[in-house]
Amino acid sequence: MSAKATIHSERSDGEPLLAPRLTLGGRLRDRWYRADRTGRAVFSLFALMMCAIIAARMALEVLGPHDGWPGPPTTIPPGAKEDTASDGARREAVREAMKHAWGGYRQYAFGKDELHPVSNKSNNKWGGWGVTLIDALDTLHIMGLHEEFREAVSHVVGVNFTRTKDDFNTPFFEMVIRSLGGLLSAYEMSLDRRLLDKAQEVGDALMPAFNTSTGIPYPRVDVNAGRAVPADRVCIAEAGTVQLEYWKLSELTGDPVYHDTAQRVVDILDRARKPYKGLYPIWVDISSGELVSGQITFGGMGDSWYEYLLKQYIYSRRAEDQYRRMYEESIDGMRAKMVRQSIYDPNMYYVGDLDATATKFSPRFQHLTCFVPGMLALGSRVLDRPADLELAKQLTYTCFQMYNRTRTQLSPEYVQFRDVSDRGIAPSQENTTDFELVGLNAASDREKDDGFYLGPNRSYILRPETVESLMILYRVTGDGTYKDWGWQIFRAIERWTKTPSAYSAYGDVNSIGGSAELTDSMESFFLAETLKYLYLLFSPADYYSLDEYVFNTEAHPFRIMRTPPP
Ligand SMILES: *[C@@H]1O[C@H](CO)[C@@H](O)[C@H](O)[C@H]1NC(C)=O
Ligand SMILES: *[C@@H]1O[C@H](CO)[C@@H](O)[C@H](O)[C@H]1NC(C)=O
Ligand SMILES: *[C@@H]1O[C@H](CO)[C@@H](O)[C@H](O)[C@H]1NC(C)=O
Ligand SMILES: *[C@@H]1O[C@H](CO)[C@@H](O)[C@H](O)[C@H]1NC(C)=O
Ligand SMILES: *[C@@H]1O[C@H](CO)[C@@H](O)[C@H](O)[C@H]1NC(C)=O
Ligand SMILES: *[C@@H]1O[C@H](CO)[C@@H](O)[C@H](O)[C@H]1NC(C)=O
Repeated sequence: MSAKATIHSERSDGEPLLAPRLTLGGRLRDRWYRADRTGRAVFSLFALMMCAIIAARMALEVLGPHDGWPGPPTTIPPGAKEDTASDGARREAVREAMKHAWGGYRQYAFGKDELHPVSNKSNNKWGGWGVTLIDALDTLHIMGLHEEFREAVSHVVGVNFTRTKDDFNTPFFEMVIRSLGGLLSAYEMSLDRRLLDKAQEVGDALMPAFNTSTGIPYPRVDVNAGRAVPADRVCIAEAGTVQLEYWKLSELTGDPVYHDTAQRVVDILDRARKPYKGLYPIWVDISSGELVSGQITFGGMGDSWYEYLLKQYIYSRRAEDQYRRMYEESIDGMRAKMVRQSIYDPNMYYVGDLDATATKFSPRFQHLTCFVPGMLALGSRVLDRPADLELAKQLTYTCFQMYNRTRTQLSPEYVQFRDVSDRGIAPSQENTTDFELVGLNAASDREKDDGFYLGPNRSYILRPETVESLMILYRVTGDGTYKDWGWQIFRAIERWTKTPSAYSAYGDVNSIGGSAELTDSMESFFLAETLKYLYLLFSPADYYSLDEYVFNTEAHPFRIMRTPPP
């Protein structure tokens, strides 16, 4: 609840702030004449101080560090609902879920990459730096779990990030968003200098990725050897979702090399030839910097590239106009070519995928794409694009239905829509060239009611994108419906995915097979993102306010730069 809204509502109650009997000047004069000498001296001093404060504030506003920039957006509209008792209970339930997930991880997998939440085994499939622990740090801090935070920090400062599991090639993008991002935000929260040193160690260990002829990064790094693993191509999300983290590293260390290296990638992709303005096929040729092939998608392998265009603009305090232009081009392209409406349910809009030439449309909506409504809502405030907010609401509705219309009320990886041509198109993410047409073989009886049908992959792997959008939509619109939807999703997570030691991915969201469906996997983003966004959804909107923070694509909040970059 914003201070602005509070004042507004007091005034609208009808009671003016000043008593009507006497004007402010009148009352001051009245006091002045009735006071004794000491009283008058104190009064004068007080008046002088007030004038000085007001003058200083006015000077700051005129000449201040943000001179020339409009400043952060206001994200809390008047009329936003008060934090209620039920929000408190919901927030506490999410915090309990975090304690449960963390407790199991701590007991059976502490310092390992992941816990297997059914068998209680663990794995080091991300190289063994303890990615779940690092990803969870700032969530622990945000939820006030300080004992757990301290214990995790004392572990992480002993990890050697210049060395990893033998024969392991570190995925550059994943480690930047999870480990570098997690350490940077944990540092900003705690100001524990050791965390910044560790962040720099990770950032430096991964820098060899950029050592290519164009500066477009290789997707994997052999950290032990201190060099990247050569490759021909990298996908656009991998190359273009590391800038926020490296910019932050430059801001906090004062060394511009990280920012400059990461920025080069965006400059090249900005210049690359595109099949449609603002739309980027996912595969980038590393030696030429050209966009060679693949589909165009706001889902997997494309998604966070678009997200960071907006977020870097916000992070730079709107100083980097290149990002505003690129973001607006992309959203205009998406709106023109990729948004459709269900032919059965006119309330349901979705963002499908395109082939590399931006001509064939695939009527499929990925759960990963459900971050888009949150992005649109944030962008609508920052860039004054009200139509984007309308689309954001429509898409959020669909994302919620992906949960609400399955038997478990959990969402599958993606849903498919019947296209007017009565054919679906299934793009293969692995294949650079292929975009095959397939007939609809899986249409179910419920399709007409649901407006969409489920594809072959019906698993829910504890993904965050929908609750991320719900949190942002709530903060931008003040509409409490988004909290209720988030609460329903949380209850389904509790009902179907909870295990005695943590939470597990679920095999088929349309099967109420219970524990038989648990696939014994808990990705670190469940602790980093899903639980954090749910917790923030039920928290007052000024807690980690969107005016002060920008969340990296792994939900690690970064403070917006205090002054625009030089
Ligand atoms: C896993 O740990 C939980 C909590 O300690 C326990 O209740 C459960 O029986 C364990 N599962 C297995 C398969 O050992
Ligand atoms: C980290 O590992 C590297 C490579 O094995 C080694 O040279 C370095 O001394 C280690 N650092 C610490 C603090 O143990
Ligand atoms: C960059 O790669 C070249 C070979 O392509 C190698 O000779 C050089 O040492 C590398 N530099 C860094 C900083 O990794
Ligand atoms: C969710 O599903 C229930 C029953 O299936 C339905 O009654 C309800 O209206 C749905 N919610 C929304 C917001 O569509
Ligand atoms: C990709 O698609 C092409 C054309 O359909 C096909 O020849 C090739 O075998 C496919 N490659 C893979 C890895 O599926
Ligand atoms: C479904 O998608 C998830 C997440 O991408 C993946 O881990 C899983 O293997 C897929 N399952 C099937 C049956 O394809």
